[in-house]
Amino acid sequence: MKQLAVFASGSGTNFEAIAQACADGRLNARVALLVCDVPGAKVLERGARFGIETFCFRPKSYASKADFEREIAGRMDELGIDLVCLAGYMRLIGPVLLERYGGRIINIHPSLLPAFKGAHAVEDAVAYGVKVYGITIHWVDATLDGGRIIAQEAFPYEGSDPDEVHRIGQKIEHRLYIETIQKLIQ
Ligand code: GAR
Repeated sequence: MKQLAVFASGSGTNFEAIAQACADGRLNARVALLVCDVPGAKVLERGARFGIETFCFRPKSYASKADFEREIAGRMDELGIDLVCLAGYMRLIGPVLLERYGGRIINIHPSLLPAFKGAHAVEDAVAYGVKVYGITIHWVDATLDGGRIIAQEAFPYEGSDPDEVHRIGQKIEHRLYIETIQKLIQ
């Protein structure tokens, strides 16, 4: 069975969708580690509910990104992590993790990349007057929301309410992330 690590910084609905799919057997994998860089984030409660090992850290307590990434990579090595899934992890992956896990890290992003990179993709797209929105899953490289695209799904929306776009998009994310992970690990 493949071992997953999920990295998240916030609410963790994608983390929960992945953990639930593993628990149900819809995903032939196990979430062996949750990594969170925001103490107090809601995703931590979700992780505890699933009894998943968590590495939660405060980036500012470390001298550099390399220092906390070395610690994360060390634990991932011990657990035999096969695939790293970024799920709302609002931080660039640095050279330490890329060197050891490059080609095994994927990210989900709420836009049709390469359009609307960054932390406010949906808000930026609504402000632009976009009529076709979407979700992208891609390999992670050193750039912000860069890396080769693995899967995309588009949906039309003519309104101007970012919350509604988030709601529609998240439903797609939870399904598309699981389908994509399953394809990658089988
Ligand atoms: C998701 O919508 C994901 O696409 C986005 O963060 C959200 C996390 O939601 N990621 C990015 O914007 C990456 N640039 P969740 O915490 O409920 O899974």
